[in-house]
Amino acid sequence: MNNLMRISELKKSYTDGSGNNLDILKGIDLEISENSTLSISGSSGSGKSTLLHILGGLDQPSSGEIFFKNRSLFTFKNKELADWRNTSIGFVFQSHCLLPDFSAIENVAMPAMISGLNKSEALEKALILLKLVNLSERKDHKPQQLSGGEQQRVAIARALINSPQLILADEPTGNLDMKTGDLVGKMLKTVCKNQNTTLIVVTHNPKLATAMDYQLNLQDGLLQKPSY
Ligand SMILES: Nc1ncnc2c1ncn2[C@@H]1O[C@H](COP(=O)(O)OP(=O)(O)OP(=O)(O)O)[C@@H](O)[C@H]1O
Ligand SMILES: [Mg+2]
Repeated sequence: MNNLMRISELKKSYTDGSGNNLDILKGIDLEISENSTLSISGSSGSGKSTLLHILGGLDQPSSGEIFFKNRSLFTFKNKELADWRNTSIGFVFQSHCLLPDFSAIENVAMPAMISGLNKSEALEKALILLKLVNLSERKDHKPQQLSGGEQQRVAIARALINSPQLILADEPTGNLDMKTGDLVGKMLKTVCKNQNTTLIVVTHNPKLATAMDYQLNLQDGLLQKPSY
C-alpha cells in the first residue's frame, strides 16, 4: 500500500499561564497508508486535537516533520498550504461548524465554490454527496432545521466535496446520542472507503474506534497500541 502521510519525531509544547513548559506531543512517529482508516483515542487533554490540527496544517509543531506524499508540509508556502488544505484535506469537527444562513446543500457546496467550481456544478456535486449520507430530502433545510445527527452528516458530505485524500475527524459523534453516533460513525467510515479517502478519526467511542482498520492510543505524548 502507498504511503499517504509520514510523521516523524513530532513534538508540540505549550507554555502555560505562569510560563511553565507543557510537553504535549513528545515525538510522534506514524505512517498512514492510502485508503486506510485509523482511530486515535486517549484521555481528555492528552493532545488528540492538537495532533489532528497539526496534521491538517491548522497548527505548527514545535519540531518534527510531516510528509504528505513524500513532500514535507513545512516547505509549503502560505498559499500552497491553504490550497492543499482546501483540496487534499477534509475536516469534521465535534460541532458541525455549518454556516447558519445557508442551506444544507449550499453548506456542502461551499468548499467546492471556494476552490473555483461554478455554483451549478458545485450544487450538483453537493446533491450527490447528500444522497450518499441519506439527506437529499433535507437539502434545503438550514442547519437549525436539522437534527444533530443530520447536521453531522451534512458536515461529512461537506468534508468530502473536494474529493480530499484525507479526512480528519475530531470526535465526530461526540455530541450525538449512542444510536445516532453509531449510525453517523458507520456512515463516515463507509463513505470514506467508497470514495478511497483515508480517514483519521479521534474518538472516545470504543465501537467507532474498533471499526477502523488501525487503532492507536495517545498517552503520555506518544501513540501506543491500545491494550484492548
Ligand atoms: N493554545 C494553548 N496554550 C496552552 N495550552 C494548550 C493550548 N492548546 C491546548 N493546550 C493544552 O494542551 C493539552 C492538549 O489539548 P488537546 O485539545 O489537544 O486535548 P484533547 O486530547 O483533544 O482533549 P479532549 O479529549 O478534551 O478534546 C491540554 O492540556 C490543553 O490544556
Ligand atoms: Mg479534543
